Amino acid sequence: MSSFPPRFMDGHDERIDTDAAVRQTDSDAAIARFSAVQKQYLYDPFIKHFLPRGAQHQSARPPLINIGTYVRSQAIDYLVNQWITFSAQEGKKCQIVSLGAGSDTRFWRLATGPRKETLAKYIEIDFAENTTKKAMAIRKSRDLSAALGKPEDVTLVSGGTGLSSPVYHLLAADLRSSPTSSLAPLLQAKDAISLPLLDPSLPTLLLFECVLVYMTPAQSSGLIQWFVDYFSQSGSHTTLGGIVYEMFGLSDPFGKVMLANLKTRHVELPGAEPYPTFESLRNRFLQHGFEESNATTLRDYRRSGIESSERQRISQLELLDEMEELELVLAHYAITWGWKSFGDGEQKSRWSNWRF
Ligand SMILES: C[S@@+](CC[C@H](N)C(=O)[O-])C[C@H]1O[C@@H](n2cnc3c(N)ncnc32)[C@H](O)[C@@H]1O
Repeated sequence: MSSFPPRFMDGHDERIDTDAAVRQTDSDAAIARFSAVQKQYLYDPFIKHFLPRGAQHQSARPPLINIGTYVRSQAIDYLVNQWITFSAQEGKKCQIVSLGAGSDTRFWRLATGPRKETLAKYIEIDFAENTTKKAMAIRKSRDLSAALGKPEDVTLVSGGTGLSSPVYHLLAADLRSSPTSSLAPLLQAKDAISLPLLDPSLPTLLLFECVLVYMTPAQSSGLIQWFVDYFSQSGSHTTLGGIVYEMFGLSDPFGKVMLANLKTRHVELPGAEPYPTFESLRNRFLQHGFEESNATTLRDYRRSGIESSERQRISQLELLDEMEELELVLAHYAITWGWKSFGDGEQKSRWSNWRF
Protein backbone atom coordinates (compact mmCIF):
# COMPACT_ATOMS: atom_id res chain seq x y z
CA MET A 1 0.00 0.00 0.00
CA SER A 2 1.40 3.45 -0.85
CA SER A 3 2.12 5.78 2.06
CA PHE A 4 0.93 9.31 2.51
CA PRO A 5 2.77 11.63 2.48
CA PRO A 6 4.86 9.97 -0.23
CA ARG A 7 8.48 9.40 0.70
CA PHE A 8 11.52 8.49 -1.27
CA MET A 9 14.89 7.29 -0.21
CA ASP A 10 17.86 9.55 -0.68
CA GLY A 11 21.07 7.90 0.42
CA HIS A 12 20.74 7.41 4.16
CA ASP A 13 18.02 10.07 4.53
CA GLU A 14 14.35 9.52 4.08
CA ARG A 15 13.00 12.74 2.58
CA ILE A 16 9.43 13.79 2.12
CA ASP A 17 8.39 14.41 -1.50
CA THR A 18 6.55 17.69 -0.95
CA ASP A 19 5.58 17.98 -4.63
CA ALA A 20 3.76 14.66 -4.34
CA ALA A 21 1.89 16.06 -1.34
CA VAL A 22 0.83 19.06 -3.47
CA ARG A 23 -0.24 16.81 -6.34
CA GLN A 24 -2.23 14.75 -3.87
CA THR A 25 -4.37 17.79 -2.99
CA ASP A 26 -6.13 17.11 -6.27
CA SER A 27 -7.48 13.80 -4.97
CA ASP A 28 -8.94 15.65 -1.98
CA ALA A 29 -10.61 18.14 -4.33
CA ALA A 30 -12.04 15.35 -6.51
CA ILE A 31 -13.32 13.40 -3.48
CA ALA A 32 -14.92 16.57 -2.07
CA ARG A 33 -16.64 17.24 -5.38
CA PHE A 34 -17.86 13.65 -5.66
CA SER A 35 -19.29 13.91 -2.15
CA ALA A 36 -21.15 17.13 -3.02
CA VAL A 37 -22.53 15.39 -6.12
CA GLN A 38 -23.66 12.35 -4.16
CA LYS A 39 -25.49 14.56 -1.71
CA GLN A 40 -27.12 16.41 -4.64
CA TYR A 41 -25.56 19.80 -4.02
CA LEU A 42 -24.06 19.66 -7.52
CA TYR A 43 -24.77 17.85 -10.76
CA ASP A 44 -21.60 16.45 -12.30
CA PRO A 45 -21.77 13.05 -14.01
CA PHE A 46 -18.05 13.20 -14.88
CA ILE A 47 -16.21 13.49 -11.59
CA LYS A 48 -16.64 9.78 -10.77
CA HIS A 49 -14.25 8.92 -13.60
CA PHE A 50 -11.41 10.85 -11.95
CA LEU A 51 -11.61 9.48 -8.43
CA PRO A 52 -8.63 7.71 -6.89
CA ARG A 53 -9.13 3.97 -6.54
CA GLY A 54 -11.58 3.06 -3.77
CA ALA A 55 -12.81 6.62 -3.26
CA GLN A 56 -16.29 5.85 -4.64
CA HIS A 57 -16.92 3.78 -1.53
CA GLN A 58 -15.67 6.31 1.01
CA SER A 59 -18.28 7.93 3.19
CA ALA A 60 -19.47 11.40 2.15
CA ARG A 61 -17.71 14.49 3.45
CA PRO A 62 -19.31 16.50 6.30
CA PRO A 63 -22.08 18.99 5.39
CA LEU A 64 -19.77 21.94 5.96
CA ILE A 65 -17.33 20.68 3.32
CA ASN A 66 -20.15 19.86 0.91
CA ILE A 67 -21.59 23.36 1.24
CA GLY A 68 -18.14 24.91 0.76
CA THR A 69 -17.59 22.85 -2.39
CA TYR A 70 -21.02 23.87 -3.64
CA VAL A 71 -20.55 27.61 -3.01
CA ARG A 72 -17.12 27.66 -4.64
CA SER A 73 -18.35 25.73 -7.64
CA GLN A 74 -21.40 27.96 -8.14
CA ALA A 75 -19.36 31.15 -7.85
CA ILE A 76 -16.66 30.12 -10.31
CA ASP A 77 -19.18 28.62 -12.74
CA TYR A 78 -21.06 31.92 -12.68
CA LEU A 79 -17.96 33.93 -13.63
CA VAL A 80 -16.87 31.43 -16.28
CA ASN A 81 -20.32 31.31 -17.88
CA GLN A 82 -20.52 35.09 -17.91
CA TRP A 83 -17.09 35.23 -19.55
CA ILE A 84 -18.20 32.86 -22.29
CA THR A 85 -21.41 34.85 -22.81
CA PHE A 86 -19.51 38.15 -23.17
CA SER A 87 -17.14 36.56 -25.68
CA ALA A 88 -20.12 35.28 -27.66
CA GLN A 89 -21.63 38.79 -27.62
CA GLU A 90 -18.46 39.94 -29.35
CA GLY A 91 -19.11 37.28 -31.96
CA LYS A 92 -16.08 35.30 -30.84
CA LYS A 93 -15.36 31.88 -29.47
CA CYS A 94 -13.20 31.92 -26.39
CA GLN A 95 -10.29 30.02 -24.92
CA ILE A 96 -9.95 28.76 -21.37
CA VAL A 97 -6.60 27.82 -19.88
CA SER A 98 -6.88 25.99 -16.56
CA LEU A 99 -3.59 26.00 -14.68
CA GLY A 100 -3.21 23.31 -12.04
CA ALA A 101 -6.42 21.79 -13.46
CA GLY A 102 -6.07 18.48 -11.63
CA SER A 103 -9.23 16.38 -12.05
CA ASP A 104 -11.44 19.34 -12.84
CA THR A 105 -14.46 18.38 -14.97
CA ARG A 106 -15.39 21.85 -16.20
CA PHE A 107 -14.45 21.08 -19.80
CA TRP A 108 -16.89 18.13 -19.95
CA ARG A 109 -19.64 20.10 -18.28
CA LEU A 110 -19.23 22.86 -20.85
CA ALA A 111 -18.76 20.52 -23.80
CA THR A 112 -22.02 18.71 -23.06
CA GLY A 113 -24.00 21.85 -22.21
CA PRO A 114 -25.57 24.78 -24.08
CA ARG A 115 -22.25 26.67 -24.35
CA LYS A 116 -20.53 23.85 -26.20
CA GLU A 117 -20.12 25.73 -29.49
CA THR A 118 -18.58 28.77 -27.85
CA LEU A 119 -15.28 27.12 -26.91
CA ALA A 120 -12.39 27.44 -29.34
CA LYS A 121 -9.83 25.79 -27.06
CA TYR A 122 -9.85 24.40 -23.54
CA ILE A 123 -6.31 23.83 -22.27
CA GLU A 124 -5.47 22.14 -18.98
CA ILE A 125 -2.01 22.11 -17.42
CA ASP A 126 -0.74 20.22 -14.37
CA PHE A 127 2.25 18.21 -13.19
CA ALA A 128 3.05 15.29 -15.54
CA GLU A 129 2.09 12.71 -12.90
CA ASN A 130 -1.43 14.17 -12.70
CA THR A 131 -1.90 14.74 -16.43
CA THR A 132 -0.80 11.17 -17.15
CA LYS A 133 -3.45 9.85 -14.76
CA LYS A 134 -6.06 12.16 -16.24
CA ALA A 135 -5.19 11.16 -19.82
CA MET A 136 -5.58 7.51 -18.86
CA ALA A 137 -8.91 8.15 -17.15
CA ILE A 138 -10.15 9.96 -20.28
CA ARG A 139 -9.01 7.09 -22.50
CA LYS A 140 -10.76 4.56 -20.28
CA SER A 141 -14.13 6.33 -20.14
CA ARG A 142 -16.49 6.37 -23.10
CA ASP A 143 -18.37 9.35 -21.59
CA LEU A 144 -15.22 11.45 -21.30
CA SER A 145 -13.79 10.45 -24.69
CA ALA A 146 -17.05 11.04 -26.54
CA ALA A 147 -17.00 14.75 -25.63
CA LEU A 148 -13.58 15.22 -27.26
CA GLY A 149 -14.63 14.48 -30.83
CA LYS A 150 -14.01 11.69 -33.33
CA PRO A 151 -11.65 9.00 -31.98
CA GLU A 152 -9.20 9.59 -34.84
CA ASP A 153 -8.85 13.26 -33.77
CA VAL A 154 -7.93 12.41 -30.18
CA THR A 155 -4.30 11.47 -29.50
CA LEU A 156 -2.05 10.92 -26.54
CA VAL A 157 0.98 13.21 -26.78
CA SER A 158 4.35 13.63 -25.08
CA GLY A 159 4.72 9.98 -24.15
CA GLY A 160 1.22 9.76 -22.67
CA THR A 161 1.65 12.72 -20.31
CA GLY A 162 -0.71 14.78 -22.47
CA LEU A 163 -3.69 14.49 -24.73
CA SER A 164 -4.71 16.46 -27.78
CA SER A 165 -8.09 16.84 -29.48
CA PRO A 166 -9.74 19.54 -31.60
CA VAL A 167 -10.81 21.67 -28.61
CA TYR A 168 -9.49 20.00 -25.45
CA HIS A 169 -5.76 19.83 -24.71
CA LEU A 170 -4.11 18.34 -21.64
CA LEU A 171 -0.49 19.37 -21.10
CA ALA A 172 2.20 18.61 -18.54
CA ALA A 173 4.34 21.35 -16.98
CA ASP A 174 5.71 22.49 -13.66
CA LEU A 175 4.21 25.95 -13.36
CA ARG A 176 6.94 27.08 -10.98
CA SER A 177 9.49 26.92 -13.80
CA SER A 178 10.16 29.97 -15.89
CA PRO A 179 7.18 30.36 -18.30
CA THR A 180 9.58 30.78 -21.21
CA SER A 181 10.74 27.21 -20.68
CA SER A 182 7.46 25.68 -19.42
CA LEU A 183 4.53 27.49 -21.11
CA ALA A 184 6.08 28.96 -24.23
CA PRO A 185 7.01 25.62 -25.88
CA LEU A 186 3.49 24.33 -25.23
CA LEU A 187 1.37 27.32 -26.21
CA GLN A 188 3.37 29.40 -28.72
CA ALA A 189 3.80 28.70 -32.41
CA LYS A 190 6.72 26.31 -33.03
CA ASP A 191 7.91 28.24 -36.08
CA ALA A 192 6.90 30.98 -38.49
CA ILE A 193 4.54 28.78 -40.50
CA SER A 194 2.69 26.93 -37.74
CA LEU A 195 -0.24 28.18 -35.68
CA PRO A 196 0.07 28.55 -31.91
CA LEU A 197 -2.07 26.35 -29.66
CA LEU A 198 -3.12 29.52 -27.81
CA ASP A 199 -4.67 31.92 -30.30
CA PRO A 200 -3.73 35.47 -29.22
CA SER A 201 -6.71 36.98 -31.05
CA LEU A 202 -9.42 35.30 -28.94
CA PRO A 203 -10.85 36.30 -25.55
CA THR A 204 -8.97 34.07 -23.12
CA LEU A 205 -9.74 33.17 -19.52
CA LEU A 206 -7.05 31.91 -17.15
CA LEU A 207 -8.32 29.71 -14.31
CA PHE A 208 -6.16 29.30 -11.23
CA GLU A 209 -8.32 27.18 -8.94
CA CYS A 210 -6.39 26.46 -5.80
CA VAL A 211 -2.96 26.36 -7.42
CA LEU A 212 -1.11 29.69 -7.03
CA VAL A 213 -1.16 29.23 -3.27
CA TYR A 214 1.38 26.41 -3.69
CA MET A 215 3.94 28.67 -5.35
CA THR A 216 5.77 31.85 -4.47
CA PRO A 217 4.31 35.26 -5.41
CA ALA A 218 7.24 35.73 -7.81
CA GLN A 219 6.40 32.48 -9.61
CA SER A 220 2.68 33.22 -9.84
CA SER A 221 3.13 36.78 -11.03
CA GLY A 222 5.68 35.52 -13.60
CA LEU A 223 2.95 33.25 -14.96
CA ILE A 224 0.34 36.01 -15.25
CA GLN A 225 2.87 38.39 -16.79
CA TRP A 226 3.81 35.79 -19.40
CA PHE A 227 0.21 35.70 -20.62
CA VAL A 228 -0.02 39.51 -20.60
CA ASP A 229 3.14 39.73 -22.73
CA TYR A 230 1.90 37.00 -25.06
CA PHE A 231 -1.28 38.89 -25.88
CA SER A 232 0.24 42.36 -25.93
CA GLN A 233 3.10 41.33 -28.25
CA SER A 234 0.66 39.81 -30.72
CA GLY A 235 -0.90 43.22 -31.37
CA SER A 236 -4.38 41.65 -31.22
CA HIS A 237 -7.55 43.37 -30.04
CA THR A 238 -8.89 41.08 -27.40
CA THR A 239 -9.48 40.54 -23.68
CA LEU A 240 -7.57 38.46 -21.15
CA GLY A 241 -9.30 37.47 -17.93
CA GLY A 242 -8.20 35.62 -14.84
CA ILE A 243 -9.87 33.93 -11.89
CA VAL A 244 -7.92 32.95 -8.78
CA TYR A 245 -9.53 30.84 -6.06
CA GLU A 246 -7.66 29.99 -2.88
CA MET A 247 -7.31 30.15 0.90
CA PHE A 248 -7.34 33.64 2.35
CA GLY A 249 -6.75 35.47 5.65
CA LEU A 250 -4.61 32.76 7.17
CA SER A 251 -2.96 34.99 9.76
CA ASP A 252 -5.88 34.78 12.22
CA PRO A 253 -6.19 31.90 14.71
CA PHE A 254 -8.45 29.85 12.42
CA GLY A 255 -6.10 30.39 9.47
CA LYS A 256 -3.15 29.32 11.57
CA VAL A 257 -4.88 26.05 12.39
CA MET A 258 -5.54 25.50 8.66
CA LEU A 259 -1.86 26.09 7.91
CA ALA A 260 -0.73 23.81 10.73
CA ASN A 261 -3.06 21.01 9.53
CA LEU A 262 -1.68 21.25 6.03
CA LYS A 263 1.86 21.25 7.37
CA THR A 264 1.30 17.90 9.05
CA ARG A 265 0.60 16.62 5.53
CA HIS A 266 3.75 18.33 4.24
CA VAL A 267 1.81 20.91 2.23
CA GLU A 268 3.18 24.45 2.45
CA LEU A 269 1.37 27.53 1.15
CA PRO A 270 4.05 30.05 0.14
CA GLY A 271 1.44 31.90 -1.91
CA ALA A 272 -1.07 32.61 0.88
CA GLU A 273 0.69 34.94 3.29
CA PRO A 274 1.45 37.82 0.89
CA TYR A 275 -2.27 38.39 0.17
CA PRO A 276 -3.88 39.19 3.53
CA THR A 277 -6.42 41.80 2.33
CA PHE A 278 -8.88 42.30 -0.53
CA GLU A 279 -6.64 45.09 -1.79
CA SER A 280 -3.69 42.72 -2.01
CA LEU A 281 -5.82 40.11 -3.78
CA ARG A 282 -6.98 42.61 -6.40
CA ASN A 283 -3.43 43.70 -6.84
CA ARG A 284 -2.53 40.24 -8.12
CA PHE A 285 -4.06 41.38 -11.41
CA LEU A 286 -3.81 45.18 -11.15
CA GLN A 287 -0.01 45.00 -10.87
CA HIS A 288 0.01 43.47 -14.37
CA GLY A 289 -1.94 46.35 -15.86
CA PHE A 290 -5.41 44.77 -15.66
CA GLU A 291 -8.16 47.36 -16.02
CA GLU A 292 -10.29 45.96 -13.26
CA SER A 293 -10.06 43.38 -10.52
CA ASN A 294 -12.44 42.34 -7.74
CA ALA A 295 -12.38 39.90 -4.87
CA THR A 296 -14.91 38.29 -2.57
CA THR A 297 -14.97 35.51 -0.01
CA LEU A 298 -17.10 32.41 -0.25
CA ARG A 299 -18.90 33.66 2.86
CA ASP A 300 -19.99 36.85 1.12
CA TYR A 301 -20.89 35.05 -2.08
CA ARG A 302 -23.05 32.59 -0.15
CA ARG A 303 -24.78 35.45 1.63
CA SER A 304 -25.59 37.56 -1.40
CA GLY A 305 -24.75 35.70 -4.63
CA ILE A 306 -26.91 32.60 -4.36
CA GLU A 307 -30.56 32.85 -5.26
CA SER A 308 -32.96 32.35 -2.39
CA SER A 309 -34.63 29.32 -4.04
CA GLU A 310 -31.21 27.65 -4.32
CA ARG A 311 -30.36 28.54 -0.74
CA GLN A 312 -33.63 26.99 0.31
CA ARG A 313 -32.91 23.80 -1.66
CA ILE A 314 -29.40 23.51 -0.22
CA SER A 315 -30.56 24.05 3.33
CA GLN A 316 -32.80 20.99 3.03
CA LEU A 317 -30.14 18.56 1.82
CA GLU A 318 -28.36 17.96 5.11
CA LEU A 319 -28.61 19.06 8.68
CA LEU A 320 -26.10 21.78 9.49
CA ASP A 321 -26.20 23.01 13.04
CA GLU A 322 -23.05 25.13 13.06
CA MET A 323 -23.82 28.18 10.94
CA GLU A 324 -21.12 30.21 12.67
CA GLU A 325 -18.51 27.62 11.88
CA LEU A 326 -19.64 27.48 8.25
CA GLU A 327 -19.27 31.24 7.93
CA LEU A 328 -15.84 31.12 9.55
CA VAL A 329 -14.61 28.46 7.12
CA LEU A 330 -16.10 30.19 4.06
CA ALA A 331 -14.51 33.50 5.10
CA HIS A 332 -11.11 31.83 4.63
CA TYR A 333 -11.51 31.21 0.91
CA ALA A 334 -11.48 33.99 -1.67
CA ILE A 335 -12.19 34.38 -5.35
CA THR A 336 -10.34 37.12 -7.20
CA TRP A 337 -10.99 37.98 -10.81
CA GLY A 338 -9.80 40.61 -13.25
CA TRP A 339 -9.65 41.49 -16.93
CA LYS A 340 -7.40 43.41 -19.29
CA SER A 341 -8.15 44.50 -22.80
CA PHE A 342 -5.61 44.72 -25.62
CA GLY A 343 -5.86 46.87 -28.69
CA ASP A 344 -8.46 49.59 -29.12
CA GLY A 345 -10.36 48.62 -25.96
CA GLU A 346 -13.76 48.92 -27.68
CA GLN A 347 -14.97 46.01 -25.58
CA LYS A 348 -14.24 47.64 -22.23
CA SER A 349 -17.80 48.57 -21.32
CA ARG A 350 -18.93 44.97 -21.74
CA TRP A 351 -16.18 43.46 -19.61
CA SER A 352 -16.64 45.99 -16.83
CA ASN A 353 -19.94 44.16 -16.15
CA TRP A 354 -18.06 40.95 -15.43
CA ARG A 355 -19.07 40.57 -11.79
CA PHE A 356 -21.51 38.86 -9.47
C1 LIG B 1 -5.98 21.56 -4.92
S1 LIG B 1 -5.67 20.90 -6.50
C2 LIG B 1 -6.87 21.80 -7.46
C3 LIG B 1 -7.30 21.07 -8.69
C4 LIG B 1 -8.38 21.81 -9.50
N1 LIG B 1 -7.90 23.07 -10.00
C5 LIG B 1 -9.60 22.02 -8.65
O1 LIG B 1 -9.83 23.16 -8.24
O2 LIG B 1 -10.32 21.04 -8.37
C6 LIG B 1 -4.15 21.71 -6.98
C7 LIG B 1 -3.64 21.26 -8.32
O3 LIG B 1 -2.59 22.14 -8.72
C8 LIG B 1 -1.53 21.37 -9.24
N2 LIG B 1 -0.28 22.09 -9.08
C9 LIG B 1 0.21 22.65 -7.94
N3 LIG B 1 1.42 23.20 -8.18
C10 LIG B 1 1.70 22.98 -9.49
C11 LIG B 1 2.80 23.28 -10.33
N4 LIG B 1 3.88 23.90 -9.85
N5 LIG B 1 2.76 22.92 -11.61
C12 LIG B 1 1.67 22.27 -12.11
N6 LIG B 1 0.60 21.94 -11.37
C13 LIG B 1 0.61 22.28 -10.07
C14 LIG B 1 -1.56 20.10 -8.42
O4 LIG B 1 -0.86 19.04 -9.03
C15 LIG B 1 -3.05 19.85 -8.29
O5 LIG B 1 -3.55 19.09 -9.35
